[in-house]
Amino acid sequence: MAQKLKKKTSVKRPIPKPEPKEFSIAELARELNSFNVDNYWDLGKFLVDKVMPVTRKQGLFEDQVLKMISSQPGIKFPFSILKQCQQYYAYYPDVKKRLLPEVFYFDLATKVDESRRRDQYEKMAIDYKWTISDLRKKIHDDEMARRIDERTKFGFDLRERNVWAFDTADPRFGKPNYKGRIPGQIVANALYYYTKPNDYVVDPFAGSGTLADIVDTVPHFQDRKYKLYDANPIDERISRNNILLTGIPEQSNSVDYVFLDPPTEFSQKDSSTDFEVSLDASKADFILKFKGMIRECSRILKSGGKVSILMEPAFAGKEFIDFPNEITQLFKEIGFKQIGKVYLPKRSSEAAMKMAAGIAEVKGIRALSSDCKELLTFQKT
Ligand SMILES: C[S@@+](CC[C@H](N)C(=O)[O-])C[C@H]1O[C@@H](n2cnc3c(N)ncnc32)[C@H](O)[C@@H]1O
Repeated sequence: MAQKLKKKTSVKRPIPKPEPKEFSIAELARELNSFNVDNYWDLGKFLVDKVMPVTRKQGLFEDQVLKMISSQPGIKFPFSILKQCQQYYAYYPDVKKRLLPEVFYFDLATKVDESRRRDQYEKMAIDYKWTISDLRKKIHDDEMARRIDERTKFGFDLRERNVWAFDTADPRFGKPNYKGRIPGQIVANALYYYTKPNDYVVDPFAGSGTLADIVDTVPHFQDRKYKLYDANPIDERISRNNILLTGIPEQSNSVDYVFLDPPTEFSQKDSSTDFEVSLDASKADFILKFKGMIRECSRILKSGGKVSILMEPAFAGKEFIDFPNEITQLFKEIGFKQIGKVYLPKRSSEAAMKMAAGIAEVKGIRALSSDCKELLTFQKT
């Protein structure tokens, strides 16, 4: 019997989409080098259309790949340019939609984050027939105004970098003639950077109550809870306590942030002091006092809790004690990691008083003196 041959039916399989080609960074760098240095849009198109899909597929971050490319030997483009080109094309992929010269769009893409604001600037530039300098000036002026707003938005002079210089102390915080009172802006910035809503904050050297004034008057900090101590309390918000005798009377693992502004006597600072006689003794005394205090901070802080301390180096003739460095070593020994360092130049009025006193000499040796404290911050690990 003739076997009935089954007719082969052809099964239609979907044609697989071509996978984005894997790349080697060196290959990519070579390909990018063939672009003209001023052809930002084409360069951006290549990065967005060809490189980024593969990047994402390989589970890499876009910036990571751009950095890898820009660190290849011989590459013409630094990371910042690659990034700008990528942004430029991503925001303005359609050349036909442009009513302004290319440079306007490049500036908008790389200087203005929000798309709504980019559109507003574009419209203004068209309506008022701006030159590129007009556009740049407007973006710059708006940015400056935004920063000023941002600074005062929180109700104090917010600083963005790690040098905090304040010529006058904010009169709302602390008592004007209190010896050792610091500009409250320092404490406010420390609270801003190192605490969060509902944190429990302790100040064992409260002095004129600067920290309490900030929490009580600046709405941004009103949800922080605080406890103040001092050996000589000046108002009812401050409890009497001598830290050297009784430590910090707080429960273990209960505090989020400690602000330490120890009295000058705790560290040897006076440039006229005869260090040669007492250097070792003063260092040993310093270590003893501060070790106890840091242990107390470690005990009362929750895990992850933070402590900031104000410290200043001491100069005396040939001798110099880098107290900020000494204290950093102590904190590390006791199990903290350092998370911040801010420089606090003294107010110009204080510096002028020192200048008037003339150049100090100790035993015929010209002595520098310190004009800058440091605010060091550590975290309990
Ligand atoms: C540098 S002042 C603090 C100033 C404070 N930050 C302010 O802005 O007003 C140091 C404070 O430590 C206090 N003090 C000195 N020895 C102390 C001790 N053994 N225990 C607790 N407080 C002490 C002093 O009374 C002084 O008010």
